[in-house]
This record gives sequence, C-alpha cells and structure tokens, in this order.
Amino acid sequence: MSWLSQALSSSLGKKLLMALTGLFLIFFLTGHLLGNFLLFKEDGGQSFNEYAKFMTTTPAILLLSIVTYACIIFHVIYSIVITIHNRNSRPVRYAVTNPSANSLWTSRSMGVLGTIVLIFVVIHLKSFWYEMKFGSIPIVDYSSGSMKDLYRIVNVAFTQLWYVAFYVFSMIILSFHLSHGFKSAFQTLGLSHVKYTPLIKIIGMAYAIIVPLLFASMPVYLYMKSHGLI
Ligand code: HEM
Repeated sequence: MSWLSQALSSSLGKKLLMALTGLFLIFFLTGHLLGNFLLFKEDGGQSFNEYAKFMTTTPAILLLSIVTYACIIFHVIYSIVITIHNRNSRPVRYAVTNPSANSLWTSRSMGVLGTIVLIFVVIHLKSFWYEMKFGSIPIVDYSSGSMKDLYRIVNVAFTQLWYVAFYVFSMIILSFHLSHGFKSAFQTLGLSHVKYTPLIKIIGMAYAIIVPLLFASMPVYLYMKSHGLI
C-alpha cells in the first residue's frame, strides 16, 4: 500500500478529503451561481447560451468540470465510508444520550441532508447537463455563431410549479448542509484560531444563507416571468 492510499484510508485522511472536496464544491457553487445570473439578463438568452457554450467547449473549463465530478463522487463515497466507520467503532450504543444538548441538529443530520442534495444534483444534471451534452437541443443563431439553446430548456423546465418547488426545497436543504459543512471543513483543516474562528463561522453562515437563496430566486423568477406574474 503506497503512502498516499495509507494516508487516505486513515481516519484523518478521510476527514481531510471530505473537507477539501467540500471546499472545492463551495468554490464551484460560487462560480456556477455567478454564471447563472445571466438567466436574469433580458436579451432572449443570448448571453446565457454563449456562456453555456463557452463552459462546455473550453478545454481548461472541461478539466475543472472533471475535477468537480471527481469531488462530488469522492465527497459522497467518503461520507458513506466515514458513517460506516463511526457506526462500527461504536457497536454498543451509549446508555444515556442527549444529542440535542451535545451537537446541533444540522451536524447530526449531515448524512440525510447530503443524500437529499445528492438526489437534487442527479435530477438537476439529468435536466440540464445531460441535455446539453447528449440531448437534442434546438440550435439558435446569433451574430457570434450558432449554439444550443440551453436557455430555452431551462425556461421550459421552470414553467412547472412542482419543479420550481423541488428546487426551492432542495436549496433550503443545501443551506442547512452548507451551514455545518463550511465551518466543519475549516475545523478539519486545523484552521481554528481564537480571533478568526468566529469570523469564519459568520462568513460560513452568510454563505449558507445567501448562495442557496440566490439559486432559489432563479427558478422562482423564471416561473413568475413565464406565467406573466412579473
Ligand atoms: C437553482 C439554480 C440552478 C440553475 C438554473 C442551474 C443550471 C445549470 C445548467 C443550465 C447546467 C448545464 C450547463 C453547464 O454544464 O454549465 C448546470 C450544470 C451543473 N449544475 Fe447547476 N444550476 C443551478 C443550481 C445548482 C446547484 C445548487 C448545484 C449543486 C448543488 C448545481 C450543480 C451543477 C453541476 C455539478 C453541474 C455540471 C457542471 C459541469 O459540467 O461542469 N447546480 N446547472
């Protein structure tokens, strides 16, 4: 067994990998949010479609995408491995437990919250990513060239109330998952400091509220626009 696989299979190695992949996914989410803001631009989707074409055809971005997929896969696999490990290393349940006094609800529910986020990601990738890569999306022509009209696919998806509700619900769950994940990742990396830890907690909480809220605003806005409510 090489030093790398030994390090990754140690308890600390597994937690480190969870923290690093989680932080990379936070970085991805920020970029994804900023790019998706183009959905708000009133230009018939041209900027959004040009952005989607750039994101799916530029080699350096494709490499970043592969790192993103790998992080999702490792993050999920290692969360399962850590859960099983924790369960096996405590075969006898404590006689007296008072979980609500010892830890926050979010920290105890990371597995459930993460599973719901994973279900969201799978459905989300099927709706947009799969369609963009392998579906037969109509082509649209602009002065900058012809490209797939992903804007139309996103708009059509968000005309359905149940689908918008599913996104809003998933963003609430993502918010809880991030609220614990952000500060936990910094703790695992040993970046705790009397002066900076409270600041990291505040930034983590603000991120966990603002980012999912802005993501949720997109389906809500497109739904309201398509139904003439705004
Ligand atoms: C709610 C607003 C969101 C919208 C409108 C949206 C839209 C899209 C679209 C159109 C794509 C396909 C185009 C592309 O590959 O760049 C995509 C890809 C993707 N989305 Fe989202 N997204 C949203 C939120 C999220 C959230 C909250 C997550 C994660 C929790 C997420 C994870 C992903 C991933 C992993 C990909 C594949 C990226 C890649 O191939 O590099 N998205 N999204």
